[in-house]
Amino acid sequence: MSMKNDLLIKTLQGEKVDRPPVWLMRQAGRILPEYRAIREKLPDFKALVSNPQLAAEVTIQPVDILKVDAAIIFSDILVVPEAMGLHYEMVEKVGPRFPKTIQSGRDIDQLLSGDDAADNLDYVYNALEVTQRNLDSRVPLIGFSGAPYTLLAYMVEGKGSKTFSKAKRLLYAEPAMAHALLEKLTKTIISYLKRKVRAGASVIQLFDSWAGLLDRRLYQEFSLKYIRLICDALKDVPVIVFAKGAWFSMEDIATIPDVAIGLDWQTDPATARQVFGADRTLQGNLDPCCLLGPENQIRQAVKDMLSSFGRNHIANLGHGVYPETEVSAVKAFIDEVKSYQYP
Ligand code: CP3
Repeated sequence: MSMKNDLLIKTLQGEKVDRPPVWLMRQAGRILPEYRAIREKLPDFKALVSNPQLAAEVTIQPVDILKVDAAIIFSDILVVPEAMGLHYEMVEKVGPRFPKTIQSGRDIDQLLSGDDAADNLDYVYNALEVTQRNLDSRVPLIGFSGAPYTLLAYMVEGKGSKTFSKAKRLLYAEPAMAHALLEKLTKTIISYLKRKVRAGASVIQLFDSWAGLLDRRLYQEFSLKYIRLICDALKDVPVIVFAKGAWFSMEDIATIPDVAIGLDWQTDPATARQVFGADRTLQGNLDPCCLLGPENQIRQAVKDMLSSFGRNHIANLGHGVYPETEVSAVKAFIDEVKSYQYP
């Protein structure tokens, strides 16, 4: 499919471009009043996620309002555990809660996986189809999934946590159980992402949000192994792997062929360039809190970031936009990237 703005696709394919593409993680989130207006009409977050027409509308808002170079489908990583049979709730101002969590081998046996689980996510595929139609090829559409380990973390812990010690206990105390769950998750994610691509996603991002709580050995055994399987299964589409806090595993992550790598702000761009090499597409990585400072400082930080990454770079933050961020700060970030020219 030819696209009016294919800067992101070209960058992911290693083609030479004049400036880096820019998009933001959580760009469809709570910072836009236009998003909040739609969100407030619905009983809760999940009602928006499961409504393809409205999910498509809030997916496209940042393209129209912020002029980003990509759309990311409005959804959540927790729709996957739910499709496998583990119901979640999104509690206002608190975050996700799983009333029932994974405790035993029996709990894992009862979960659906692969196509059987992916069959329960028609509302996501429908949202992608509606978005693709309404976007009219203006910019590429990004689909995403949580990485298996990050989804395991929520399914075992039942909610967000500073330490995820219940989830990590499983890795140390019941490794066979952990692997059984990770295998089911991996099969499901592969079916799910293939269908997302069929429904209109032209790029896939994997979010391993809790990678930073592991160490190099655990990361290799319980996360990277499965991420590799997913990347292998998605050879036909560009993939971006974002493993937040996994700087200790950079050299291992660098052995995944072809994929682009999203970096958090704690990773030094020059160090990442050295480890991943000049040809690897890197994404990131301004501290989202930088957008809470003055505009001239944001613009300078963008210039510094772009020059330290050099070519083969996707401009982004090092994590999602925080809800207290002013729209004007996000616009300054995007505008500065768009007025940049590679030397
Ligand atoms: O980036 C986008 O704009 C696309 C939409 C998107 C959401 N969640 C919408 C959302 C994406 C890509 C996600 C991914 C996601 N969800 C991740 C991985 C990225 C990351 O942040 O590391 C994680 C860990 C989740 C789980 C999740 N969803 C949490 C922990 C929370 C609550 C935290 C909070 O900020 O309140 C959510 C809720 C959520 N997902 C919101 C949005 C816009 C806020 C809910 C609301 O609008 O009321």
